[in-house]
Amino acid sequence: MSWAPAELDLSRPNAARMYDYFLGGSHNFAADRQAADAVLAVAPHVADAARANRAFLRRAVRYALQQGIRQFIDLGSGIPTVGNVHDIAHCVNADARVLYVDVEPVAVAHARALLGVAPQVDVIQADICFPDFILDNPATQRLIDLARPVAVLFVSVLHFIPGDVNAIVEPFRAAASPGSALVISHATSGATTNQTEEVQRLYQRTPTPLQLRPRADVQALFGDFAMVTPQPGAASPSDGAALVPVSHWRPDPEDHVPADGSSASPFLTSFLAGVGMKGPAVMTEQPRPEPTGRCALRPAGRH
Ligand SMILES: C[S@@+](CC[C@H](N)C(=O)[O-])C[C@H]1O[C@@H](n2cnc3c(N)ncnc32)[C@H](O)[C@@H]1O
Repeated sequence: MSWAPAELDLSRPNAARMYDYFLGGSHNFAADRQAADAVLAVAPHVADAARANRAFLRRAVRYALQQGIRQFIDLGSGIPTVGNVHDIAHCVNADARVLYVDVEPVAVAHARALLGVAPQVDVIQADICFPDFILDNPATQRLIDLARPVAVLFVSVLHFIPGDVNAIVEPFRAAASPGSALVISHATSGATTNQTEEVQRLYQRTPTPLQLRPRADVQALFGDFAMVTPQPGAASPSDGAALVPVSHWRPDPEDHVPADGSSASPFLTSFLAGVGMKGPAVMTEQPRPEPTGRCALRPAGRH
């Protein structure tokens, strides 16, 4: 396993590698698969939720591209899978710049191997609890021009971090120029059941236990950014309506619709997503870029 850094503790399950397993990836170890299977035994819809989240990320990146954004900071980017941010962005503009940030060594090693020497893409291993380290990092400064709009992505990462996560998001909101986008998905405490409690208990065995937050706390992370309507063409969302289950945020007609009633599962209904734009003006929406060839990405798959 050339992609596995030598210093890894293989005996302890890790949320990044469990997520890779849920998505059908192969960068995980026995302890990860065991823990992920235990989660799936209690809550089979967690895999649907992971796929739906990945599809949200793809649509949110495309939305940002439609707004003319050409720079992306993907925080808690995970182990590369199908439809990474740079894959999507480069379908629209080969010069788009993408900075990946993750704390997990396998995610970072695999991203580095995949990216090679692509000059518009970089990866740093960092804990997002230290936003200034990321903003001041030479890789960030080389790649990202904060005087121009940037999309900052916190997709399925903040619910692994305890405490005041606004202290993490706020410096990025402040550093971003007008026209920038903030993309967040977050598991919330809206529908607590025995199942969700059991899943939380299983994640206690990982270095990053789940931190479910109320919807209002997730909404507050957008600060004064203007929320994008989850349905195109709808009026500005009223308070509380801008965050929707990940699979409801501007779904594509071809998006996987969860079967077997899993759309009613708390793992989907409480996994909320939203996109906010920093004022003053949101650019006019441009026609959706049509994916072709290798850009005709499926939301998730074995890699
Ligand atoms: C569920 S994965 C999400 C991956 C990707 N953002 C997506 O939504 O498909 C969560 C990722 O967040 C990373 N992560 C968790 N805590 C982190 C931290 N404090 N700093 C940086 N990355 C973190 C994990 O290593 C993992 O790769």
